[in-house]
Amino acid sequence: MDYGMGNRLSRIIKPKDGKTVMLAVDHGYFMGPTGGLENIGKSVTPLLRYADSLMLTRGILRSHIDPKIDIPIVLRASGGTSILKDDLSDEDIAVSMEDAVRLNVSAVALSIFIGSKNEKQGIINLSKLVDKGYKYGIPVLAVTAVGREMTRDARYLSLSVRIAAETGASIVKTYYCEDFEKVVETCPVPVVVAGGKKTSEAEAIKLAYDAVKHGASGVDMGRNIFQSEKPINMIKAVKAVVHKGISPEEAYNSIYNI
Ligand code: R5P
Repeated sequence: MDYGMGNRLSRIIKPKDGKTVMLAVDHGYFMGPTGGLENIGKSVTPLLRYADSLMLTRGILRSHIDPKIDIPIVLRASGGTSILKDDLSDEDIAVSMEDAVRLNVSAVALSIFIGSKNEKQGIINLSKLVDKGYKYGIPVLAVTAVGREMTRDARYLSLSVRIAAETGASIVKTYYCEDFEKVVETCPVPVVVAGGKKTSEAEAIKLAYDAVKHGASGVDMGRNIFQSEKPINMIKAVKAVVHKGISPEEAYNSIYNI
């Protein structure tokens, strides 16, 4: 692997254990002022010292993140739709690789929507972004977005992550499901798991624990951290589960100092 790409990937997935806790705050690219991110500076800055990387848009990176903070950036590079549309799959590449280089990011991220009417567009956009990324040594994280009509089962998610990897993604983000090890086993690149909609702290911690136990390289978690009543304790708990393998019960208790 090219040195630059390998170096950037190792900033995201920590070589000491092959795991990562990515903090995802890119929701605004199609959801606008998402709950918990209305004032990103206030809510996200205190979490940065605990995250292994930060996934966000270039607008928020430029406006709210101090360049002196040492945190690897995963830049959301797809866009073009909003939650006002029924079909969210109509995305395109929305950031140039030159701007990603200017921002010194460690990876760029793009969503694909396997099974949607814009399936081909997403895959070809991923392919184009991978080509551009290779030019500069910037890895691409593919987000396997799941439409409302799709079933989040191992069969569908294996299909999505494998297509993402075959198209050239260096990391694939997907959802946790039953028989998750089948999803990981058939994917030749590291798989990270999204947190999804806000659930209880106990459920989100269990999700992170189960995902890693069944082969995930970590999590790319947003709402279950920044919408938690105790976001700092929550990210610390998730980190302990992912990097230290502590039990979900112990991690949950640590949030409330039980
Ligand atoms: C979608 O808006 C983004 O790709 C998020 O980064 C992703 O869904 C992870 O965030 P959450 O844990 O809130 O699902």
